[in-house]
This record gives sequence, structure tokens and C-alpha cells, in this order.
Amino acid sequence: MDKAENKPAATAKSPAGLEGVVAAESSVGDVDGIRGVLIYQGLNIHDLAEHSTFEETVFLLWHGRLPKREELDALRRELAASQGLPEEVLALVRRIPRDAEPMDSLRTAVSALAFYDPRSRDLSREGALRTATRLTAQLSVLVASIERLRKGEEPVEPKPELNLATNFLYMLKGEMPSERVARIFDVCLVLHADHELNASTFTARVIAGTLAGMYGAVTGAIAALSGPLHGGANTNVMKMLLEIGSPERAEEWLRDALASKKKIMGFGHRVYKTEDPRSVWLRRFSKEMGEARGETRWFEILERLRELMFREKKLYPNVDYYSGSAYYLMGVPLDLFTPIFAVSRISGWTAHILEQYANNRLIRPRAEYTGARDVPYVPIDER
Ligand code: CMC
Repeated sequence: MDKAENKPAATAKSPAGLEGVVAAESSVGDVDGIRGVLIYQGLNIHDLAEHSTFEETVFLLWHGRLPKREELDALRRELAASQGLPEEVLALVRRIPRDAEPMDSLRTAVSALAFYDPRSRDLSREGALRTATRLTAQLSVLVASIERLRKGEEPVEPKPELNLATNFLYMLKGEMPSERVARIFDVCLVLHADHELNASTFTARVIAGTLAGMYGAVTGAIAALSGPLHGGANTNVMKMLLEIGSPERAEEWLRDALASKKKIMGFGHRVYKTEDPRSVWLRRFSKEMGEARGETRWFEILERLRELMFREKKLYPNVDYYSGSAYYLMGVPLDLFTPIFAVSRISGWTAHILEQYANNRLIRPRAEYTGARDVPYVPIDER
């Protein structure tokens, strides 16, 4: 029997890593990897980075259009009203080992949030939007609380009058960021909000496609985001910069790394074959933060590596290349960079989950079987 006989011929073999496979219809966002264009619900990422805020972008992703003023005010109020974490979840976070990876702590805590939300299984549009609002509000509070508690400090209460970006930085440090730093961070959240069917969003849609709850779908998405080939790359870029130490060492370091066939973190992309439009903004912020803090060497190393990588491999930086250096200069610890990615991407994950629930069909592809067939069962004592 032909091993692929029971499958439609056209889908019998798929490209490694599902490269180029269109696995869903979506109006949430689109990536044109040839021209380097990213849109959210039709709006160009450059316009959003220039003019929008994270809250407005959240509304756009969930509703498919920009909000009117009163709609944006209502969303802000709902987010502020949803920030409180259940005491039980905070108690759980307190018991997590201090040396745990914050992404693992976040995944565990988000999973536990479902226990304390009596409407966690309400998958109606209204119910799912409510859960999306809670998750978007609570993720930033959770990440800041995880950081404070692992340092032996008490979590800082969010201030309801602040936007999500400012509140996050305030809760992290217990002091207000400057207006400029808060705005840079807000734009970083806008830039990371959605990216079509990336690995974590695909994970979320697969889970939602079984009609499992939103907390479970987001828990899975956080696990997918944590890997170094996805959101984990931003932390690894900063580790690389610290290892290199100075711009003069960049070339030698890179030659050695490429000679030993290392993947250089922050370069390359499955979809972009040109410059990632988000990195244009993050590059500016990395430079600006370096100049503002009088510490330009990270940016200089990044620029040196960028030139060399283009010359040697024709590869461009991706979204994770510059973001870490900007966060680092804001005083954010390295291992919080990926949780910050989640604080933003929750908006895109939930937009895709809402879309999946609204027009659901179980996502259940096939595998190309490469194993043996007709293998006789040998009793254990005869093996
Ligand atoms: N450093 C060195 N070589 C690279 C890199 C890199 N960062 N990225 C790709 N290549 C080479 C790769 O070795 C391969 O060469 P060859 O054809 O000679 O074997 C070729 O480029 C194609 O690479 P690939 O790994 O098959 O490409 P992919 O589409 O499977 O992987 C990627 C995409 C992003 C996982 C990969 O570029 C990578 O590992 N980059 C480093 C990690 C990283 O920065 N991840 C963040 C991704 S973007 C944001 C996000 O999703 O969080």
C-alpha cells in the first residue's frame, strides 16, 4: 500500500517547518516579506508607530478598526478595572523558585488565572472579549510582580490613570519613567503586538480551534514564544552584546561564531527577505537610549554586526535585534525581555483567538509518515 494513499495527493508532503503554507484566513494582520510591509487590520505599522498607542492598537486588533474617542476611553477604563490579580495567583507566584525563568513563571501564572475567572469558559464574542481584556491588563501586572517578588520586593499596585506602558515601567521600578522613555516603550508594545501566523499565534489558534478556553490558548502561546528561535532571541542578543563587550571585538567574534556554524541571534526571518519594518523603529530607539544614557557601545556593536552579517550572509536584523539593548538601557533585566514581548503580543494572540472562535473549524493537519509498517508484535520475553 502506498504510504500516502489515504491522503489527498496535493497535501501528502509539506515543506519543512510549514514554510510558505497558508494555514488560516485572517484579517488581523499581514506580513509582506518581500517588500518589508507589516499591517494590522489594514493599517501600516509605520503609521501606528508614529501616531498610535498600545491601547488604541489593541482596540484595532480586536475590532478591526480604530476606536472613536469614547470607545478608546471605555477600553482604557475596562483595562484599568481588570488589572487586579487574584490573591491566590499572587500567592502562587510567591512560591515559584527565585531562580525560575520569568517566562516559565508567567506561563504557570497565566494558566492559574483561569481558576479564578468564573467566566473563563465563556467563548461567546462578548465573553471572549472580556477575557481578552482581563488577560491584556493582567499580563503586565503579572510580569512586573514576578520581577518584584523574585527580588524579594513587594509588587507595586498599578495606577489606574496611567497607560499600560507607563504603568508597567512604574510597577517594575516603583518610580515613574520619563515621558520619553514611556513613549518609546509604548511604541515598542505597538510594534510587537501582532505578526500574523508566527509560531506562538499559530499555537494559540490550534488550541482555540479545539474550543478550549482562552487561558489555555494563551498559556500555550507563552510556551511557544519562550524559545530562542522565537521571542527568546531578544534576551540572547543582549547576552551576545555583553559577551562581545566592545565594537572592536565584533568582527572577530562574528567570524568565530559563523565559522562554528552558530546561528546569530536577532538575524534572519522565515518571512522577511528584506528589512523587518519594526527593526527600523527599534534601531532608532536603541540609538536614542544609548545616547541618552551615555552608553553607545551596544548600539555600535549592533551596527558593526549588522554590516558584517549583511556582507557575509545577506541576512537582515529582525524585531529581536535592537529591542533588547533599548530595554537594557531602561534598566530592565535581560530575562524580562521575552515576557515584555508577551505583554504586547497578548493583544495579537487574543485577536486571533477571537477570530478563531468566531469562525471555528478544528485545526487538524496530517503528517507524512516516515516510519515502518506491518511490524509484528513480539512478546516482551522474546525481544
Ligand atoms: N545566523 C546565521 N545564519 C542564519 C541565521 C542566523 N541568525 N538565520 C538564518 N541563517 C541561515 C541558515 O543557516 C540557513 O543557511 P543554509 O541555507 O546555508 O543552511 C539559511 O540562513 C536559512 O535559515 P533557516 O534556519 O532555514 O531559516 P528559518 O526560516 O527556518 O528560520 C529563524 C528563521 C528566525 C528561526 C532563523 O533565521 C534564526 O534562527 N534566527 C536566529 C534566532 C532569531 O533571531 N529568532 C527571532 C525570529 S524573529 C522574531 C520572533 O519570531 O520572535
